[in-house]
Amino acid sequence: MHLGRTTLSKFLIQQVREHHAEEGAGLAALLVDIAAAVKAISAMTAKGALAGILGSLESQNVQGETQKKLDVLSDQAFINTFQLGGLVAGLASEENDDPIAVEPRPACANFLTLFDPLDGSSNIDVNVSVGSIFSVVRAPKGKPSLQDYLVPGDQQLAAGYAIYGPSTMLVLTVGQGTHGFTLDREVGNFILTHPNIQIPASTSEFAINTSNERFWEPPVQRYVEECKAGKTGVRGRDFNMRWIASMVADVHRILMRGGVFMYPKDTKDPSKPGRLRLMYEANPMSMVIEQAGGAASTGRGRILEVKPEQIHQRIPVIVGSREEVERVAKYHDEYDKGEDKAYSSPLFKERSLFQN
Ligand code: F6P
Repeated sequence: MHLGRTTLSKFLIQQVREHHAEEGAGLAALLVDIAAAVKAISAMTAKGALAGILGSLESQNVQGETQKKLDVLSDQAFINTFQLGGLVAGLASEENDDPIAVEPRPACANFLTLFDPLDGSSNIDVNVSVGSIFSVVRAPKGKPSLQDYLVPGDQQLAAGYAIYGPSTMLVLTVGQGTHGFTLDREVGNFILTHPNIQIPASTSEFAINTSNERFWEPPVQRYVEECKAGKTGVRGRDFNMRWIASMVADVHRILMRGGVFMYPKDTKDPSKPGRLRLMYEANPMSMVIEQAGGAASTGRGRILEVKPEQIHQRIPVIVGSREEVERVAKYHDEYDKGEDKAYSSPLFKERSLFQN
């Protein structure tokens, strides 16, 4: 062990003292609690088939998705941590229909948490990276009502994710930059390994599930078409594509080396305005990305300014390198104003070669 390494606790004490005087100590302690739940989930996921906890249950979550055993175990790890930790007045998770109030309310419970305990869980059984995503907002003085959870993303006090990959990392922000910590498994400590992560402003890599291409709106089709045209098209350079199908893993790659991640609005299921959930996927990941110098948009506005209406609300997500996100948003704007006629025409592929 190297002496002098910055542990998560030491880092948090310094950060929140500087920037969150009022609720600082409690917020730091809550993030240390979250790290404890992450360590428990990391241990479970690392055991894989040996622990007999892979595979699906018969139950479904509120989204109608079949729950995996690890979804439920991870959810329980977070709930236990928050219920015992004494810092949280209530919590909302992907796996529970309604928020859960912590009762009796502990004296120092100044926060509400929203989380996706195991994101990308379709990847569990094939041993591909998964993650946890969390968001922390201020608790009201009295018993939390549904409205208390439904605050826009720009009011989050802290947000972050854990990625359970070849190494386990915790990446978080308390509103002063985005910082990454790697779990030293032997010692059990998260160590600051990626201070002040900065996403490159431009990129040549995009991430989207192209099997949905025919359901996308024209602005997204236009953007992806141009990326695929590479050197022969308006972008004038070749692009690469990656899709892990764990938002955490795809966004983590983008934080490390740039890129744009899109789960845009599509017409596959017209009742859903997007695939990803605003409160415990899009909002926390957008805060992390913006704090790393990137951008996060629905295509038609900043994600962090969306006024939430429901806990499990879905939303289109376009996040990552600033210039690319802005380009996709510009294409939405042009489409909405009817100014992208060249693209909308069946001849767009030929004509787009000559566009700027
Ligand atoms: O939570 C939803 C999620 O698992 C994300 O982590 C991921 O980006 C997406 O769904 C994958 O969707 P699809 O299965 O359509 O590729």
